[in-house]
Amino acid sequence: MIVKDFLKNASFKHKDLISTQALSIDDVNEIFALADIFKASLKNDKTKLPYLKGRVVVNLFFEPSTRTRTAFEMAAHKLDADVISIAASASSSVKGETLKDTAKNIQALMADMIIVRHSCSGAAKYLADRLEIPVLNAGDGAHAHPTQALLDAFTMREKFGGNFKGKNITILGDILFSRVARSNIHLLNKLGANVTLAGPSTLVPEEFEKMGVRVCYDLREAISDADVVMLLRIQHERQRATYFPSISEYAKVFGLNASRENLLKKDAFIMHPGPINRGVELDSFLADSGRSVILNQVTNGVAVRMAAMKLCMQAKFGK
Ligand code: CP
Repeated sequence: MIVKDFLKNASFKHKDLISTQALSIDDVNEIFALADIFKASLKNDKTKLPYLKGRVVVNLFFEPSTRTRTAFEMAAHKLDADVISIAASASSSVKGETLKDTAKNIQALMADMIIVRHSCSGAAKYLADRLEIPVLNAGDGAHAHPTQALLDAFTMREKFGGNFKGKNITILGDILFSRVARSNIHLLNKLGANVTLAGPSTLVPEEFEKMGVRVCYDLREAISDADVVMLLRIQHERQRATYFPSISEYAKVFGLNASRENLLKKDAFIMHPGPINRGVELDSFLADSGRSVILNQVTNGVAVRMAAMKLCMQAKFGK
């Protein structure tokens, strides 16, 4: 289907993308279907697609980023938007300007969309409720990272041939502080997959079972029936206490390494949102092996973000 026809029939109604929780399964399938079209077009053609021509997108990042920020920039460029990236450390927020004032000023400068990353959970929703223009959450504290979960599920969908039913996804690592884990849990539950959370009990509290997932502290059990093992790094920047004795002990007990690879199903694959702490949660040879789809995730992040940006922009400004 050509993009114009797809967009004419699209029913996506969200001005903002704050969490995967807020998306219906139809919303998710619409993002995936448009991302499929954009991905095919990116592969075949180096020219820009004109679907955000004339629009201005501002990336407002209060935390470091390699993948998310670059992928949003790339997605905006590919859709022919103008894109401006602001590092908070070089903005007037260091002089005491509030988040709301910073964002309102960007809107007053005629931006058409803000992509925000912030260390506070709720920051993206706070702005979305106060701005006319679309706000896309690029990660807020430990709360949500919706485009990461969408690109993760999009990557799994390619590997599964579209069917999540009966698939076992194990997320292993620092779940407690992970916005990626929360966003994936909500999304994968909607898609019909079985989610298992694993890691030290201090970082994987049993309370997560209330989200409709299995919590498992036996690593062998957690990974041996998995179709996907998604590794998460330890988020030292969010931890206020010591949750395990040492990094080397964590790697020894919970790291995915050569001997544990033998426990995996033959066709199980490995994912990681990045950045990887090689030799801690994941050994280098596995990160770079045929089981790894880590760089496919990164590549898919562009098409998925193009779709999310276009659909939110259309929900706000019309077809
Ligand atoms: N996955 C992810 O959010 O990576 P960055 O922090 O590099 O954006």
